[in-house]
Amino acid sequence: MRSSTLPVLAALAASCAATETELPPVTSEALQALISLDGLTSGAQQLQVIADAAGGNRVFGSKGHNDTVYFLYDTLLATGYYDVYLQDFVELFSGGTSSLTVNGEAMEADLFTYDSSGSASADLVAVSNLGCELADYPPESANAVVLISRGECPFAQKASNAAAAGALGALIYNNVPGAISGGTLSEPGDYAPSLSISQEDGLALLAQVEAGTPVAVELEVNAILENRTTYNVIAETKGGDHDNVIALGAHTDSVEAGPGINDNGSGTIGILNVALALTRFTITNAVRFGFWSAEEFGLKGSTYYVSTLNQTAGETAKVRAYLNFDMIASPNYAYMIYDGDGSSFNLTGPPGSAEIEADFEAFFTSAGQNFTATAFDGRSDYGPFLENNIPAGGLFTGAEDPKTPEEVAMFGGTADVAYDANYHQPGDTIDNIAWDAFLLNTKAIANSIALYATDLSKIPPVSATALPKRARSVDVRGAVRSTPRQKRASGIKSHACTRRGHVLNI
Ligand SMILES: *[C@@H]1O[C@H](CO)[C@@H](O)[C@H](O)[C@H]1NC(C)=O
Ligand SMILES: *[C@@H]1O[C@H](CO)[C@@H](O)[C@H](O)[C@H]1NC(C)=O
Ligand SMILES: *[C@@H]1O[C@H](CO)[C@@H](O)[C@H](O)[C@H]1NC(C)=O
Ligand SMILES: *[C@@H]1O[C@H](CO)[C@@H](O)[C@H](O)[C@H]1NC(C)=O
Ligand SMILES: *[C@@H]1O[C@H](CO)[C@@H](O)[C@H](O)[C@H]1NC(C)=O
Ligand SMILES: *[C@@H]1O[C@H](CO)[C@@H](O)[C@H](O)[C@H]1NC(C)=O
Repeated sequence: MRSSTLPVLAALAASCAATETELPPVTSEALQALISLDGLTSGAQQLQVIADAAGGNRVFGSKGHNDTVYFLYDTLLATGYYDVYLQDFVELFSGGTSSLTVNGEAMEADLFTYDSSGSASADLVAVSNLGCELADYPPESANAVVLISRGECPFAQKASNAAAAGALGALIYNNVPGAISGGTLSEPGDYAPSLSISQEDGLALLAQVEAGTPVAVELEVNAILENRTTYNVIAETKGGDHDNVIALGAHTDSVEAGPGINDNGSGTIGILNVALALTRFTITNAVRFGFWSAEEFGLKGSTYYVSTLNQTAGETAKVRAYLNFDMIASPNYAYMIYDGDGSSFNLTGPPGSAEIEADFEAFFTSAGQNFTATAFDGRSDYGPFLENNIPAGGLFTGAEDPKTPEEVAMFGGTADVAYDANYHQPGDTIDNIAWDAFLLNTKAIANSIALYATDLSKIPPVSATALPKRARSVDVRGAVRSTPRQKRASGIKSHACTRRGHVLNI
């Protein structure tokens, strides 16, 4: 696991013999020049090897995630350029297995995060409306499995209504084509054991129930709920002004379903490559790298980290800006920049966020590339920083939403196919990475870090007044499948779905 097994990454770091005073000051060109496909490939391969050796995933608290953490810690410590520490915290893990058969045939289904265990062997009963009211559940729901459409209210409300109506289980089908990926009940509760199924399967079952054809369901949920100790990895340059810090981060955990090489291994390896390249230079402002755990369970690692900054001692305000990188190599990518100035989605960040966005835009413009905006809604690890009034920004290449024809004109790729068809799936492997996007985005990170490590004068000091909580408005996913451009035109402000991290609760 030590860097000796990773010659390409090790070569990227300055030799230990070089003392800081012999190093040149960082520049964007020089730092970008050290970012190579070899370094990114080597790092991504390392994560894939770790996932493969640990049963195929890197979910927090697992061997795959622990090994990811040790790999980052060892690699960064070996440079001698960083103070590195592991920040441990305890977080509730939820996972498990499930199965579903309908009239004796297996059907694809997923359990929800924080699901309840149980099994049912019963007929299927359709509920009225969207199952958000207890009155939607007919008396036959008792001792049956209920069929409910996604939409209008959180999954948890449906799963607990189903339990209150006496149902032995619930099937919640998508209200847009395909499966529901990453559905969560948000916290443990009194739920009927619940599984999500695709819209196609759900509508076919509904047609049978409505035609009066009995539908026999066998459903089983074996949920695991346990408190697990996990780690953030924090590395800060020994050099530079520690009262004026530029911070950046990515999350290190995957979902249980897959190795998470794009989500969010790409962000992790991208910033690791920048961290190693930076060791060849001196800097003016200190640079702090945060590798967050348990993002997939609701930004837990970054939230914990920010909560440990001593506001009274001014530690929060010393973080002058935070840059986030979560999925930067999606196979059907678009170059998306967080909309810090609010020009596209009317959600602005703290003062300085607009400048961060403009600096990323200038980078893509000078690289001759198109770019677009992604909503600055706080739903990845930058959320806790925004809530403390720290200006933020970042890059994203898209997850499960389909790419629009306009974006295909701008970036190539395939229209009406997800940016990352393997999002939260076993197929999120090293074979399904857009290496060109990975390389250009990592150079974009290098550019911003070189800029702010040298000069933070463009970014106003962090105001002591905490921002009001950002709106996390609840739209029903699928009610409006608008593209970013349509959102701009129609003034729809929020994401089409509500999520913390990548998880959907509605
Ligand atoms: C991962 O590390 C945590 C914290 O040290 C430990 O409690 C846990 O058992 C480890 N998990 C595995 C699967 O090794
Ligand atoms: C996890 O820890 C919390 C806080 O100590 C406790 O309330 C909860 O019951 C624990 N959950 C499980 C599943 O052990
Ligand atoms: C935070 O900093 C203040 C001022 O330096 C100090 O008095 C206090 O003990 C610190 N709090 C913690 C939890 O360390
Ligand atoms: C990866 O990054 C995207 C974009 O910020 C974010 O929405 C998503 O939650 C991240 N996924 C993981 C696993 O961190
Ligand atoms: C933008 O949001 C603000 C605050 O929520 C609101 O007052 C304003 O009308 C919105 N502007 C547009 C164009 O939607
Ligand atoms: C940028 O997008 C336009 C369409 O909006 C397209 O014509 C052009 O070729 C794109 N440029 C690049 C470098 O892909």
